[in-house]
Order: sequence, then C-alpha cells, then structure tokens
Amino acid sequence: MSDITREQVLEYDQKYNQHPWLTGTVNAIPVEKADGVYFWDYNGKRYYDMSSQLANVNLGYGNKEIIEAVKKQVEILPYIAPAYASGPRAELAKKLIEIAPDNMGKVFFSCGGSDANEAAIYAARTFTGKSKILSRYRSYHGSTLGSGNLSGDPRRFALETPAATGFLKFFDPYVYRSNIKFKNDAEASAYYLGLIEEQIQYEGSDNIAAIEVESITGANGVIIPPDGYLQGLRALCDKYGILLICDEVMAGFGRTGTMFGFEHWGIKPDIISFAKGVTCGYVQLGGIIMSKEISKYFEDKTFLYGLTYSGHSLACAAGLAAVNYYKEHHILEHVNEVGKVFGELLEDIKARHKSVGDVRYIGLFGAVELMKDREKKIPLVPYGYDENKIMAKIQGLLKERGFAAFGRENNINITPPLIITEEQLRDAFVILDEVLTIVDNEFI
Ligand SMILES: Cc1ncc(COP(=O)(O)O)c(C=O)c1O
Repeated sequence: MSDITREQVLEYDQKYNQHPWLTGTVNAIPVEKADGVYFWDYNGKRYYDMSSQLANVNLGYGNKEIIEAVKKQVEILPYIAPAYASGPRAELAKKLIEIAPDNMGKVFFSCGGSDANEAAIYAARTFTGKSKILSRYRSYHGSTLGSGNLSGDPRRFALETPAATGFLKFFDPYVYRSNIKFKNDAEASAYYLGLIEEQIQYEGSDNIAAIEVESITGANGVIIPPDGYLQGLRALCDKYGILLICDEVMAGFGRTGTMFGFEHWGIKPDIISFAKGVTCGYVQLGGIIMSKEISKYFEDKTFLYGLTYSGHSLACAAGLAAVNYYKEHHILEHVNEVGKVFGELLEDIKARHKSVGDVRYIGLFGAVELMKDREKKIPLVPYGYDENKIMAKIQGLLKERGFAAFGRENNINITPPLIITEEQLRDAFVILDEVLTIVDNEFI
C-alpha cells in the first residue's frame, strides 16, 4: 500500500508513469479508494463507476469473498510455477469447464485478454495447420503483436508489421449504420453471412484456421449481432472446416445476463477466450477454453506457449471466489432484472435527446451512440478521427458530475458493476441526462 499525498500522486504519475494509449503528460484523476459501485478521488469526490473500470470490475469493489480468498491464498502459496499442479488452478479450470458448453475440454490460463488471444491464435493455427485468421473491423482483441493484429479498430495500426501476417478483416453486422434497410434480423444475418462466405471462398478455406469474433462487440460500441448471425457463422465454420473463436473477454462472466455472451444464440465455439470478469480485476487473469477435440490434439503435441504467471495462484483463487459468487449470489438473475430498467432508461435517453442516434443494450452491457445528424446518420465524430476531442470533452463533463464511463468513436459505453441497484442506476442516469442536454445544445 502506498501512503503518499494527493500532490505526490499527481506529480509522480505525471513525471514517471506512461499511461497506455494516451499522449504525453496526462491529467489523470487521482483515485484514493473504492467500494461497491463507487470510487472516490483524493478530494473526497464520489464517482459512479459506470464502466466497471474497463468492463472488468463486474462484482464491484469490496467483494469480501474475493478479498478473503486472495488473503488466504497469499499466505498458503502465493505463486507456484505452471509446471506444478495447484489447488486454485486445478479447481478453477474444472469450474470453467463446468460452466462452459459441453464440448469444452481444457483451460489454458494467461494473465489477461491480449495473451489469451495470442494463445487462441497459437492453438488454432497449430491444431488446423492453417495460418489465416479472420476477424472484424470494429473489434478489439488486445495489444500484443498477434492479438493487436487480430483487432480491427485503429489501435491495431501501430502493430501492423510484416512480422504479423495472415490477419484479415471483414465487416461487422452493424445494422444501425447500414445503408440497407433490412426487414428483420434474418435478412440482416443472411446479408452479412453471405459476404463472409464470399470472402472465405476468395481467401481459400484451406488457408483459414479460424474466424474470431467478440460474441457481442464491446469497446467498439456494444454491437449486438442480429439473431441468426452467430448461428450462421457457426454453420459456415463447420461447412468450411474453420474454427470459431469467441472472444468473451468483455461480454463474458455475467455482463449480458448469461455466463457467456454467445449463449444468447445457443452456439458452441471451438475456443473461448476470457479475462476481465473472471476475477473482476482483483488480480489479473485470462485464458482460453479449448474444445475437447483441440485439447485432445495437445495430448501428444507439446503446447508451445507459456507464461511465468500462467494460472497464478492469487489470480486463480480470486477467479474461483468470483465464479462461485456469480452463482451463489444469483448475479445473472439480478443482471436480467435490473437490465430491464437499464434498457428503459436508455430508451428514455434516446427519446429525449436529439444527439442520440441509437442505444444498444443487453444485460448491463450498453452504449449510447451520438450523432451530429441522426436523420442522415452522421456520427458526432468521424471514425478514427476526433480532431477536436469532442468525445473526451463529453466524458469529462460526465466525470465532473460523478459519472465515470468509457467509450470509443462516437459511443458512450455504459457497463456498470453487475451488483448495481435500480435506485443507483436511476440516480446515475440523471447525470447522463443532464450531460446529453448540454450535448444537444452545444455539440451538434
Ligand atoms: C474483447 C476484448 N478482448 C481482449 C481484450 C484485451 O484484454 P487485456 O487488456 O486484458 O489484454 C479486451 C480489452 O479490453 C477486450 O475488450
């Protein structure tokens, strides 16, 4: 624990800390403590954590079960190398296989989402003996070399080097922004799946190891696929002998009202990548869950990928406590219950603010898409280029009033801790409403 003063936090942070994804010296809010759905800065100002930080602190702060599990584990065995067997690692792996679809065999643990997706890329290429991996433009899968190239959003640009080959992109089923007026979900799904099938033919199915998608796109604006899309993608993968990898790093662990996002459409992926909500950020952990068939392949082939902290004891102890907590405290039921209110509040926001083009939500996974002209569907800021930092200003206005969210492009993503109450949600939305009134009047 650090007991330096607020002024020292600011000074040292600005002088010595390189913030990811940000330019130069950052005027970051110095955060002192947190509890439940709130955190406080050093001046005692309280913020609603309406993003669960990076959509990872799913069970909020101060969860006694997770804290106690980590405390106990640190005294018994804080760390043991991956070559040994340990209680937390073995039990969590078993638990994850139990909550995953019945085609799943084994778990490989990483430290977070990026290296989980590196493992997914490795396992898919090795298992199939093929190299190309298809993913979507409006996606984020991590920032290491492979996972960064798998990502579609502009964060991949710095990582696109000749050293990373075989990563191809296709368009998202982003129905709201499509020029085509689809009659229903089936029509939209058929359209997008048709494009993918054509691309598979152009690329050659014999060269494609896997298609990886976020089951429900997260950071890039909570894009929920039309009904039939994921089922159709599964069928295409089966037809052409391609693996389906579902990235559940953000959508997983209760966020959408099911344990995994793909469950809404009843499909079974070949590989699931996970991180974030598995431990709720109390200790960092990620990994992949592999199908029985892929796991069997590695029975007599070495799994040539590993990390010193793979299946870290403290992380797995936290994960075990968190996964048990979701079940024992009926978190999915709560998300589905309070998620209805969340949806109503978002629809109300859309009806009352001309700057809001669309609201998308499932469980407690939501986004507000801001438009300069919602009739013509002109986004408030152009893709990949918010020259005047308009979205950062809007996020700043929200933070000033105690509503901490996150977002990309022209979206405000809202992903509160899954323990949020209806009353807290309604209270926080008063702030969102106030800021959107300013956006209506001054930003469009
Ligand atoms: C869907 C998805 N995959 C992968 C990642 C990368 O995870 P990490 O930041 O833990 O490396 C993220 C991070 O936001 C994500 O949202």
